[in-house]
Amino acid sequence: IPFSMSVPRITIGSLRKLAAATSFNPSPSPAPAPFASLTCYDATMARWLCRAGVQVLLVGDTAAEMVLGFARTSDMPLDVLLVLTAGVRRGIIAASTDPNAPAGTVIPLLMGDMPFLSYHLSEDDAVRNAARFLTEGQADAVKLEVDATFAPRVVRMNQAGIPICAHIGSRPQRAAMTGGYASAGRTKVEAASIITDAKAMLDAGCPMMLIEAVPDEVGSAVTDLCTAAKVPLIGIGAGTSCHGQVLVLTDLLGLTDKPPSFVKRAADLGTAVTAAAKSWVDTVAKRGAGASPYTMR
Ligand code: KIV
Repeated sequence: IPFSMSVPRITIGSLRKLAAATSFNPSPSPAPAPFASLTCYDATMARWLCRAGVQVLLVGDTAAEMVLGFARTSDMPLDVLLVLTAGVRRGIIAASTDPNAPAGTVIPLLMGDMPFLSYHLSEDDAVRNAARFLTEGQADAVKLEVDATFAPRVVRMNQAGIPICAHIGSRPQRAAMTGGYASAGRTKVEAASIITDAKAMLDAGCPMMLIEAVPDEVGSAVTDLCTAAKVPLIGIGAGTSCHGQVLVLTDLLGLTDKPPSFVKRAADLGTAVTAAAKSWVDTVAKRGAGASPYTMR
């Protein structure tokens, strides 16, 4: 992969150092700043996100909704997600080899996301599909939604040298069981079960973890476990204590109509896109477009 030597590259190692630094400095002031992660589904966005210094890009199965228009993440086809992941990698390469890359550009860690049924059927199937994200998708790591029962699968992936991010807490691929996307860990029993999941994943040797839509207390208890194990924890709607924070890009940019309650939009691109497209419609209608720059030879 043709990376530029002058653009800093974020690796599992550098994120682990960050989590470890937090454990050596438990008081808030010297603790390192949390890292930022966003979902990304295409090469163009990847270039801009690298320039912004976003440290982790996740080609999430939310692409099912955000790119393909399905109602659920569980509709995401594995082969399509692999193609999208490889496209994001090409965007990262373009940004990082650009001789005019602005200061602050980074080569983010690229994380693929194992879609519904790509790791449930057997351990062999799970390892094979996870490996496809590293080879065909050119990802640095793969995320999968898990509970403690998946520990043997994570051990196998570890043995194969596949860096895993264990996604715990709310697990959108199980939405059919609850009738929709739901928060998690809001009763004592549920919270204890998420802590058990986190411990099982750490014991299985997962090098990264992600926790979704849980109360602050649960996010903070899992952060403590991960900090002690020097495993970076990414949170989404899981409190401020996590080592990193992720959002779905289209939620952040104001392109989704009903973002989750924990989202704070940073832009209103939906309105901007509609305004730009309306202006194009008007320009075309007035014959203001299409002037040819070509002359007859
Ligand atoms: O698929 C995805 O986009 C995710 C994020 C919501 C963390 O898993």
